[in-house]
Amino acid sequence: MTDSLEALRGEVLERIQQANSVKELEQLRVEALGRSGSLTLLLRGLKDLPAEERPRMGERLNQLRRELELELDGHLATVNQEAKAKALAEEKIDITLPGTRFERGHSHPLTLVIDEIVEIFSTMGFEIARGPDIEDDDHNFEALNIPKDHPARDMQDTFFVAGGNLLRTHTSPVQIRTMESRKPPLQVIVPGAVYRHDDDATHSPMFHQVEGFMVDSNIAFSDLKGVLTHVLRQIFHRDAGVRFRPSFFPFTEPSAEIDIQCVICGGGGTLRNGQVCRVCKASGWLEILGAGMIDPAVFKFVGYDPEEFTGFAFGMGVERIAMLKYGIDDIRLFFQNDLRFLRQFN
Ligand code: FA5
Repeated sequence: MTDSLEALRGEVLERIQQANSVKELEQLRVEALGRSGSLTLLLRGLKDLPAEERPRMGERLNQLRRELELELDGHLATVNQEAKAKALAEEKIDITLPGTRFERGHSHPLTLVIDEIVEIFSTMGFEIARGPDIEDDDHNFEALNIPKDHPARDMQDTFFVAGGNLLRTHTSPVQIRTMESRKPPLQVIVPGAVYRHDDDATHSPMFHQVEGFMVDSNIAFSDLKGVLTHVLRQIFHRDAGVRFRPSFFPFTEPSAEIDIQCVICGGGGTLRNGQVCRVCKASGWLEILGAGMIDPAVFKFVGYDPEEFTGFAFGMGVERIAMLKYGIDDIRLFFQNDLRFLRQFN
């Protein structure tokens, strides 16, 4: 048995030295020291030895087990260290290489303009309300004093959706929704998307408006004029020409349209190269707002007493304001998602 023991020791120690992977060493551990390993088999053979030899041989076998375990563990640590050093050398990071550039997003120009308008009105004490894009006929037309078959419906060519509803043609229905649920005093603005069957350089089928209204016991046209002139001068940061023109909306009386001097052609109607200005269609003015004193018929619809309350309302076109502010001559640029255009607003 001493011979087999020495032969086993020599063989296992040699294989440990030759092994160069964790897997090989673990395999060796099983073969030599495992339940059916060579050393275990020798231990089992102890019982066949004469009784006086057993303790000495048992002690030798245990010594050998400890020796092999130590050798295996030691070599395993070396192999692990070598593998780690190799990985570190191969995966070395070159910190002098340029980093990956992350593109940072930024707001769309229309969002910038809406945010600015909201900010100006907020500082004047207006609160913000919102309403649904899909509206019913009552809120979009009837309650605003535009009955069926009224010619004013032609002014806002409408997209109808299933169930008799429609895509709101203006933000004015939110006036109705707010007044139906609350009592004056009210000082509210409503930013949001609206939809019309329109499409050219200054008209888009989906565009944005900011509605605004103020209702209390003594609101006059002069309040409307003061608020809007102040707001437009804030938006354009200069003494921009502002013009109030008599107009008609079924839900306001009297009504006005408010124009701002065309900043593309400077109000002259022609460009420097002699071409006609297509933004203002050579008129020198661009309509950006509809406004007026809220019609008593609207107050009656929402249950307000027109003898007790008066108010003004307006609806401004966000794209028109953005075009003038940034000198853009085609409204469609806002919706084409051309990065060369959008990046200019970073
Ligand atoms: C209205 O929509 C009224 N609801 C505004 C109003 C509110 C009047 C409260 C009185 C009281 P109008 O159809 O004129 O009005 O539209 C208002 C503004 O939206 C216009 O001045 C214009 O700047 C803009 N606008 C209208 N149609 C388009 C379009 N297709 N594309 C882009 N902007 C548009």
